[in-house]
Amino acid sequence: MSAPKKLFVKTYGCQMNVYDSERMAEALGSEGYVQVGTAEEADMILLNTCHIREKAAEKVYSELGRMKPLREANPDLKIGVAGCVAQAEGEEIMRRQPMVDLVVGPQTYHRLPAMARAVEGGEKALDTDFPEEDKFLHLPKARKPKRGPTAFLTVQEGCDKFCAFCVVPYTRGAEVSRPAERLLREAGELVERGVREITLLGQNVNAYHGEGPDGEWGLARLIRELATIDGLDRIRFTTSHPNDMEDDLIAAHGDCEKLMPYLHLPVQSGSDRILKAMNRKHTAAEYVALIERIRAARPDLLLSGDFIVGFPGETEEDFEATMDLVRTVGYGQAYSFKYSARPGTPAAEKAPVESAVADDRLQRLQALLTEQQRAAQDSMVGREVSVLFEKAGRLEGQLVGKSDYLHAVHVQAPEHLMGQIARVKIVESGPNSLKGELIAE
Ligand code: SAH
Ligand code: SF4
Ligand code: F3S
Repeated sequence: MSAPKKLFVKTYGCQMNVYDSERMAEALGSEGYVQVGTAEEADMILLNTCHIREKAAEKVYSELGRMKPLREANPDLKIGVAGCVAQAEGEEIMRRQPMVDLVVGPQTYHRLPAMARAVEGGEKALDTDFPEEDKFLHLPKARKPKRGPTAFLTVQEGCDKFCAFCVVPYTRGAEVSRPAERLLREAGELVERGVREITLLGQNVNAYHGEGPDGEWGLARLIRELATIDGLDRIRFTTSHPNDMEDDLIAAHGDCEKLMPYLHLPVQSGSDRILKAMNRKHTAAEYVALIERIRAARPDLLLSGDFIVGFPGETEEDFEATMDLVRTVGYGQAYSFKYSARPGTPAAEKAPVESAVADDRLQRLQALLTEQQRAAQDSMVGREVSVLFEKAGRLEGQLVGKSDYLHAVHVQAPEHLMGQIARVKIVESGPNSLKGELIAE
């Protein structure tokens, strides 16, 4: 047998890309590639890219620039670009950066083995189709080594919502849900390999409507069925759209014990005028009422969100409405972004807000969100939580894991608890994480 070829994958963007990178590495595993940790030692480098904001997309080109010396030192090195920039820019990437050998969009990873063979033969390979088939179904069966206690599982892909600022409907295509039975089987396999917590992924995960054995299943039904898998202890899902938060999913937050008390539910803006211009199709008041219903089902829920400031036409008054919404709702965690015009999206046609004004608003919003995040984290002190230990901490005898509420918690704990869930009392709130003590059973 020839020596294994070395593959280095670098992942940008959302968790969906993290999941896809694992699948791509598995697909190339069938071609004799093993994954390595640095670009320097690789025979093939794959950049799995993100197009969501200009900065994210430009990173790809600066990264490719940095790879030039590697290619000069090793002319056989193959360089590929995958993900959402590949989808959005296609051949343009090879024009801007001729050393790129392979461009593959997010829907055609199952064709990677053949593409790899082509580039090994000195050809260029490009595939940015949106094929009918399920890309995951056609991936080669991977070996089944033990793995860490948490895993992602993509259940739904693409988006039909067409928010005026967003590239996802163009880079990921129309919404497609994977069949429920297949997901249950995959979840079962993950649990056999040591997984205790699964995060269900989708650009619009709560719009999930997969084919089930007895008709179509929504996300709540899928979660309830997953919850019957022995050994699977925690279920999470991300990212959701407010308009797809249906009654049974809200109910599941109250009565499904394995569904963790954490929800990422982006609102983007608190101004009805801007929400309308963004094509979000709900008002600020509707969002607030929805949060009240979810909190009625699960009072201790930790809420997370996404915000965009400086959307075209945003006035100071619109921005104040966003600040008010944040004060009303109260977030335990949130992401906020300065609007970035994306080519091909409707909002990109409109006059932008002055950059310095948007920067100033972003700073004010982030100060408020940081304050809320801090308060939510500090409020955990004295409480008992469950922690799933994922790795060793920096200190001797310390393990680090995530609480039900997704806070990182450092605990002095015996090594055999790695990969296990333990009850922990929170004793301290640090800059980015909590400190806890094991509760004797
Ligand atoms: N499907 C998810 C979001 C995917 S993108 C949802 O609907 O919530 C993740 C976040 O990036 C978005 O929630 C939004 O806040 C931000 N975002 C998307 N496009 C953007 C743009 N053009 N400029 C700035 N932020 C953007
Ligand atoms: Fe983008 Fe809107 Fe779809 Fe989210 S719901 S992926 S923000 S278009
Ligand atoms: Fe980025 Fe594509 Fe995800 S644009 S956020 S990698 S879906």
